[in-house]
Amino acid sequence: MSSNTPSRDSFTNKFGIIAAAAGSAIGLGNIWRFPYVLGENGGGAFLLVYLAFVLIIGVPVMISELLIGRRAQLNVFGAFRKLAPGQFWYLIGVMGVGAAFLILAFYSVVAGWTLHYVYLSLTNSLAGNTPGGMIETFENVQATKGLSVFWTLLFLGATAYIVRSGIEKGIEKYTKVLMPLLLLIILILIVRSVTLEGASEGLAFLFNPDFSKITSDVVLEALGQAFFSLSIGMGVIVTYGSYIKKSESLGGTALSVSLADTLIAVLAGVAIFPAAFAFDMAPNQGPGLVFITLPNIFNQMVGGYFFGLLFFVLLTIAALTSSISLLEVVVAYFTEELKLKRKRATWIAAGITGILGIVCAFNSSVFNVFDKFSSNILLPLGGLLIVIFVGWVIGPTMPREEIEADGRKAHYYKGFLFIIKFVAPVAIALVFLKGLGWI
Ligand code: PFF
Repeated sequence: MSSNTPSRDSFTNKFGIIAAAAGSAIGLGNIWRFPYVLGENGGGAFLLVYLAFVLIIGVPVMISELLIGRRAQLNVFGAFRKLAPGQFWYLIGVMGVGAAFLILAFYSVVAGWTLHYVYLSLTNSLAGNTPGGMIETFENVQATKGLSVFWTLLFLGATAYIVRSGIEKGIEKYTKVLMPLLLLIILILIVRSVTLEGASEGLAFLFNPDFSKITSDVVLEALGQAFFSLSIGMGVIVTYGSYIKKSESLGGTALSVSLADTLIAVLAGVAIFPAAFAFDMAPNQGPGLVFITLPNIFNQMVGGYFFGLLFFVLLTIAALTSSISLLEVVVAYFTEELKLKRKRATWIAAGITGILGIVCAFNSSVFNVFDKFSSNILLPLGGLLIVIFVGWVIGPTMPREEIEADGRKAHYYKGFLFIIKFVAPVAIALVFLKGLGWI
């Protein structure tokens, strides 16, 4: 396939790219996963390690993925095969497509819960519920398998519907408008949460690091969370990079997206922990945290019905802009490598994911394995191979050329190269091996 296929879809402008890439990054990972993983891993200390990983490893990996995608103008599998013909690097693409299936499966289940909470909010069924009652409500949702499956498949169907329309008219159109609205509602939630009685304990939990809590497991969780939240290590960003025009800045895109993503995660923490402590709920209660704590806040707010409903609608949308990026990885692979038509590719990919999603909805151990295996193993491993590829395999000229293709000098290039050649590979490898107990 030629590198300049005229029909190749692309984002129309800078805001469109950032909205779509930030739309992929910002999702359930920030609002559902980040707070509960932080809660289970020691609070403030986890936050510090997390921030360090985003900055030192996340941003350089994101730039690397963008430049691979834009240079190759192909899906993640095709990109590596084109840039390193005859070598095994395309396996990163195989891993990426596999990870996309696993993540999308359990992600759709959580998004399904979110949809159910839209329904509960709409029918005002959460009003007047006690904190204990909120826990029960959440457990019921998980236990009622048919219900879970119904919402999971509905969510996947919506994802497939958007992806099937392509980049510009599908993905870009929706993300541009909805992401700013989500930020606004989180800010409103924060105001209510931090003014609850007993809120300061939650802020202390989030911002006062207790270094004795940092273990190799905590560090691996932070690395996995950073990769998951930024959507890196598996080819989403390679795929989106292939839709970015040469005149756009890759460094600027990576930085804006990473900052926006981190901001939303931290703000979600600020909305959730003060309320969790104010309502006497354990910060380490796991995946139910957001579904239990936030409805409690809504019950304490003037206009709680309205804000609750709006919040879950927006959370569903944030999930949707992430799930479409996951499905797009598979669809780009199916259309370009297996030569399937876009529509057919979309429905086949969604069908396979639907089956995996049903398994996750029925079996929480499978759900957990999909989650941990993809976040803590596949994504960091993908990230490790990607930085080695850019730092050591394709030579120093191409990355620089691609980064500076927008006509501006990248003054940070030497620092970037140093990180992806030495710092990032060593850090990822160490965390990884230590977290797995291999060293
Ligand atoms: N980054 C998304 C989130 O935080 O919700 C989830 C995700 C999307 C992970 C795309 C990985 C990915 F490739």
